[in-house]
Amino acid sequence: MNNLHHKRIVLGVTGGIAAYKSADLVRRLREQGAEVRVVMTRAACEFITPLTMQALSGKPVHTELLDHRAEAAMGHIELARWSDVILVAPASANFMAKLAHGQADDLLSTLCLAAATPLLLAPAMNQRMWLNPATQDNVALLQRRAITLFGPAEGDQACGETGPGRLLEPVELVRHVNDSFETQLLAAKKLLVTAGPTREDIDPVRYISNRSSGRMGYAVARAAAETGADVILVSGPTALDPPERVRRLDVITARDMRDAVMANVADTDIFIAAAAVADYRCIQIGDQKIKKTNTGITLALEKTPDILAEVANLPDGPFTVGFAAETEGLIENARSKLRSKKLDMIAANQVGNGLGFEGDENSLQVLWEDGGVVLEQALKEKLARQLINVVAERFYEKNPAQGH
Ligand code: CTP
Repeated sequence: MNNLHHKRIVLGVTGGIAAYKSADLVRRLREQGAEVRVVMTRAACEFITPLTMQALSGKPVHTELLDHRAEAAMGHIELARWSDVILVAPASANFMAKLAHGQADDLLSTLCLAAATPLLLAPAMNQRMWLNPATQDNVALLQRRAITLFGPAEGDQACGETGPGRLLEPVELVRHVNDSFETQLLAAKKLLVTAGPTREDIDPVRYISNRSSGRMGYAVARAAAETGADVILVSGPTALDPPERVRRLDVITARDMRDAVMANVADTDIFIAAAAVADYRCIQIGDQKIKKTNTGITLALEKTPDILAEVANLPDGPFTVGFAAETEGLIENARSKLRSKKLDMIAANQVGNGLGFEGDENSLQVLWEDGGVVLEQALKEKLARQLINVVAERFYEKNPAQGH
């Protein structure tokens, strides 16, 4: 099965005689429908020219970390975000040593450190360099961090020696990269995520809303997309850019959000309600701006639709995950919401005293019927990835036929 169609691959090329094979690799990856952007180290440019790689990839080649023009077009952080996978082929002994120790002294090493996407390495070097304990220790360190190595192969080497250290053939590398997409945690699963606040009008100039920034929900949508899921993000008004590869539907009110969710919920595998939906809306919205008087006014409010409860109660509905923001009684309140709304899982967080809504960090108590896990305080982006892992694990446990 071709998993490479429309996949975005950053191909890193480091210095070594095998760099000439990466030209063929680019061509073959593109033949399978992948988009390829090439990043070359300075040493790689001694073996093969950027012009060759540009012609084959059909895109400018990235070589410098501090090149103002290149950074303006697509900087290293954008390149890291853009990629579905980073493949370094050939990966030299020096490059693997840098990666193992977190050095970031050129574009490719910085990119690898900044990327949240899977990292695949195809080592190529002299057999003694490969077998050297320093290289082997680095390999062990990289593998512990879930970095995947393809090869090296054994055989005759350019230096005249025979042994392990040859770059795998491009056709084999293409097969390995293709297979790596099959093992993505939520490959081809459909996710629907709500995020942000909703806004309930009082009159043409005023509304009721809350302090939600949307950041947690956006991070959840991004983390799910990174693991191969098809993600629709139904978002209330926020100042955030839509995450890469996520379809965003913009809504304003709780009612709009409910309608957008219900219109897209069919064949959704997992629904994650991270939005801070306003619980009440005005029964009557003024046509004109309400004028102030000398007396107070009373707004008559009615409940908004509970989107999460509605989805959780659908026959054959998706695996549903709610959020609970609590200022007190975190676990008890969250457990009671889990039960009353018939959710599969709830992620509860403490709010107030500078925690929660507007901050960059959060911590979560994730609960399900017969268990739970604490996700310690961390940046919301990191927390979201951990949450997606827990959600995927429970989802597959509940739906073994969906297999992973
Ligand atoms: N939610 C929803 N639709 C609503 C209200 C809430 O989908 N109209 C979802 C939120 O996205 C979140 C969870 O329900 O996942 C929060 O549950 P809720 O009981 O509304 O929490 P609070 O508003 O915090 O409730 P309470 O005020 O009772 O603590």
